[in-house]
Amino acid sequence: MRNLIDITDLSVEEIDRLIATAEDIIANPAKYSQVCAGKQLATLFFEPSTRTRLSFESAMLSLGGSVLGFSEAGSSSTAKGETVGDTVHTVSCYADIIAMRHPKEGAPYAAAQVAEVPIINAGDGGHNHPTQTLTDLLTIHREKGRLDNFTVGFCGDLKFGRTVHSLVNALSRYENINFVFISPLELKLPRYVKEEALKKKGIPYTQTTDLESVMPQLDILYMTRVQRERFFNEEDYLRLKDSYILTPAKLLNAKADLSILHPLPRVNEIQVAVDKDPRAAYWRQVKNGKFIRMALIMMMLGLEI
Ligand code: NCD
Repeated sequence: MRNLIDITDLSVEEIDRLIATAEDIIANPAKYSQVCAGKQLATLFFEPSTRTRLSFESAMLSLGGSVLGFSEAGSSSTAKGETVGDTVHTVSCYADIIAMRHPKEGAPYAAAQVAEVPIINAGDGGHNHPTQTLTDLLTIHREKGRLDNFTVGFCGDLKFGRTVHSLVNALSRYENINFVFISPLELKLPRYVKEEALKKKGIPYTQTTDLESVMPQLDILYMTRVQRERFFNEEDYLRLKDSYILTPAKLLNAKADLSILHPLPRVNEIQVAVDKDPRAAYWRQVKNGKFIRMALIMMMLGLEI
């Protein structure tokens, strides 16, 4: 049985196949409308979500399947003191596949030990978010036509941003990616991510606090929200929250074919005026999230066409 806990649970070939399937779903949605008929997806969200949960549900419904689940821990037996393991064990008696989000790092891994059906990590604390990474990779592939030979800037909260950790891991497996990490000193990429994804493989990277100075070199700019819910005190959050605010003026010296990504939700870090710039890819990225999740659900249920 397959689980997707970490993006490296998928080989590069499998990721390429998921992207190809997502492209085919976009081109021929009708072909896929009954692939999951009779199957049920459970979404167990112990943390807030808009895009991840609803794109999973929309994905399953568009495959002809059905969905069940909860969107806050308080409405499940977690509120009575049930362990994550027992909750997931229970749901795996009903559903064919489970997508779960949890504030504790490693919770989906623990769930996979007791579940009788495939578990998909839909975000675990400040750790990983592999399905956002699949969304990001599909977006880069659609915007650029390839997944290699880029300079990618990651900007914002690189410490707690789980989407960053998973995407760095994923991109480190493609050729000639030049990583530029832009963050306040307190929110630098964790050492374990650098060690595992970059240093071990001898992949070079640069770190800076200054977005504008590196802007002209970037092919992709991955903006992120400062992760308020992971801070130990509000004071630090307030001091760091507006470290980077992308404006049309700051894009004047950027490449004409830059792609700007953001997993969303945004708070202040991208001005709404940037949305009109054709280089802003984050609303297209939202759409892509549904199609890659359709491809993933099919793969994990062994229902590929
Ligand atoms: C991200 C997450 O939950 O980690 N959102 C998402 O899934 N699209 C990013 C964030 O919350 O900042």
